[in-house]
Amino acid sequence: MSYPNVPPVAPLLAASLAAMTFIPDADAQPDGFNYDEALVPAYALPDPLVSLAGKPITNAKAWQSHRRAEVLGLFEDHVFGRTPSADIDVQFELLEGDDQAYDGRATRKQVRMHFRANDHHVAADLLIYLPNDAKGPAPLFVGLNFNGNHTTTPDPAVPVNQNWMRATNRDGVIDHRSSEVARGTSAKRWAIEAAIARGYGVATMYCGDLDPDFDDGFQNGIHPLFYRDGQTQPDAHEWGTIGAWVWGLSRAMDYFETDATIDHEHVAVLGHSRLGKSSLWAGASDERIAIIISNNSGCGGAALARRRFGETVQRINTSFPHWFNDAHQAYNENEDALPVDQHMLIALMAPRPVYIASATEDVWADPRGEFLAGKHAEAVYALFGKTGLTVEDQPAPDTPIGDYIGYHLRTGKHDVTAYDWEQYLKFADRHFGR
Ligand code: GCU
Repeated sequence: MSYPNVPPVAPLLAASLAAMTFIPDADAQPDGFNYDEALVPAYALPDPLVSLAGKPITNAKAWQSHRRAEVLGLFEDHVFGRTPSADIDVQFELLEGDDQAYDGRATRKQVRMHFRANDHHVAADLLIYLPNDAKGPAPLFVGLNFNGNHTTTPDPAVPVNQNWMRATNRDGVIDHRSSEVARGTSAKRWAIEAAIARGYGVATMYCGDLDPDFDDGFQNGIHPLFYRDGQTQPDAHEWGTIGAWVWGLSRAMDYFETDATIDHEHVAVLGHSRLGKSSLWAGASDERIAIIISNNSGCGGAALARRRFGETVQRINTSFPHWFNDAHQAYNENEDALPVDQHMLIALMAPRPVYIASATEDVWADPRGEFLAGKHAEAVYALFGKTGLTVEDQPAPDTPIGDYIGYHLRTGKHDVTAYDWEQYLKFADRHFGR
């Protein structure tokens, strides 16, 4: 699986290596940040139900026809960036399929998505498992993965991804290239067998196929496909890496629409951490996604930025300058100037069901701030006559709650566990009427 037309990344690594060395593990609590609830500053959240012109939004029609687009536009301009319009040739190639995966319980399909424009070609591989005992097209969970499709399953038929990997010199990755040793190393985060047993398919794709996760000035990945004549990097309000990952998720949605064995109207997007930020942005920008799940997404995901608890806007923009658009840098240590906060990102899911999950030891991601974003999104769900979290206060650990806005605080670390998946499966069962 090598993509000869993708520019090599090796020469670009030296510059970014120094920065990467100091990036904390996601479950670390770097010094110099606030982890004390008593020290959260006073803040006032922007009101999702007041339009830019100052008019109150009092019903679902006004939200859908007007205010939703305003809020989406604010996130495009100030946070995630606008996706440029460009004529991209997209093709789906079925690389292989087998109806004897997981001891005959599942059918595996590996679909290569080819993206071509401007003499560039980028390919991203979608790995799909579907339950063999499905009575019809199967509902599906789709999510990006961190380290290649081959890490999500022990299945030997999934090729080792040869693209650049962010994590290195552990879990079978040497010098940013993966190996056979990496096979299945993230399988614990992917409850494929549990999902199959309950009638769901699972699809995944390596985020780095779409855009490698480092700051190279957007010369690799899909960004160059979108450049106008003479353009060499995205404009200040255009997208960054999260935007590119989310574009890939939407192309996966396009593929699902072409595959009669997949129930494309019942697709849940699931993402962890930076990929949880991405699942929220995917749900906001692609209304075909029926359920949106944010697992430990933290700053730039479900956590309210104005609380400055754990990771801050400045920190994320410094450690990961490529994730958001350049305009987002204006909010470093300036959160109160943001025209949005993350409750409005959650509100963009309405009236679709959204699930926010936190973990007790994941204080860097501000579990309480993640809960509160759901709380403050409830007003928008109420326009549709839908109840949100159903509780006033953050529930005790391991107590899942919520109606259209699901929430739990799992005991433990920054991770995706079987417990988390169990809640997502139940949530999908309930909302998909299964
Ligand atoms: C870092 C980053 C977080 C991110 C996490 C991850 O900890 O600061 O914003 O969610 O990595 O993606 O694992």
